[in-house]
Amino acid sequence: MADRDSLVGPDSSGHGGLESRSLILHLAGVRKSYNLGTPIETEILHGIDLTLARGEFAALIGPSGSGKSTLLHILGLLERPTGGSLEVAGQDIATLDDARLTELRGRTLGFIFQFHHLLPGFSAIENVMMPTLIDRGRVDAEMRARALWLLDRVGLKDAADKRPSALSGGMQQRVAIARSLAMNPPLILADEPTGNLDTHTADDIFALMRDFNKDEGTAFLIVTHDPRLAGRCDRRIEMLDGYAHPAEQLFVLATNN
Ligand SMILES: Nc1ncnc2c1ncn2[C@@H]1O[C@H](COP(=O)(O)OP(=O)(O)O)[C@@H](O)[C@H]1O
Ligand SMILES: [Mg+2]
Repeated sequence: MADRDSLVGPDSSGHGGLESRSLILHLAGVRKSYNLGTPIETEILHGIDLTLARGEFAALIGPSGSGKSTLLHILGLLERPTGGSLEVAGQDIATLDDARLTELRGRTLGFIFQFHHLLPGFSAIENVMMPTLIDRGRVDAEMRARALWLLDRVGLKDAADKRPSALSGGMQQRVAIARSLAMNPPLILADEPTGNLDTHTADDIFALMRDFNKDEGTAFLIVTHDPRLAGRCDRRIEMLDGYAHPAEQLFVLATNN
């Protein structure tokens, strides 16, 4: 990368050219340490090189403690890396202050968690409108129309005015999917989105994410422990001890040894 950059020379658009425009994520040597500069400094991510193209549908797999959630937090712009470079939607995050980072997060990324994290005091449609409300600071008719359309797409139009507590676990996760898509972000980061669901409901939720990927071109990076679901993604990236590998490559390494 460094060689190519020096060949390309200074360029305000970062890596420039077609390649970077088609990438939603570009990581080069991303590191993360906790308790930096203290005696208990621990490096969790040891230099991750990874690209994700717009529209990709990829699984992030790997054993517990391998750094999947840490990586997702960094990709989600909730924490900054302690080394290496990260571009999200062509923006080098090192050049952005915290306010710009928050803006980039709100407009570029959607999040789905294992537990839905819906706000209990608000109805389903209000929860779906929340990201747009935070970005725009006011409710408008277009926001409401998109939220209703999204709830319809996840099969919950009739539940728009219900509170989360009145919905089943699968329905709550459908609302969370609709919410993640409120701002029509080019990338959704999902941390074990089906981890809390029975296999039938998990299949439904997975199918919904796949539909949005196909129909809207939304890229997904999905942390999952479910090999059935990982097998149905276009690509599998495996985390192992703070390094990322193409899963197929690890499989070859394992079977050759
Ligand atoms: N805030 C933190 N401070 C120190 N260590 C952490 C922190 N968050 C996570 N870790 C450590 O980082 C490692 C990777 O954790 P995590 O990213 O949650 O893995 P995974 O999601 O793959 O199970 C674990 O050893 C965990 O204890
Ligand atoms: Mg985790």
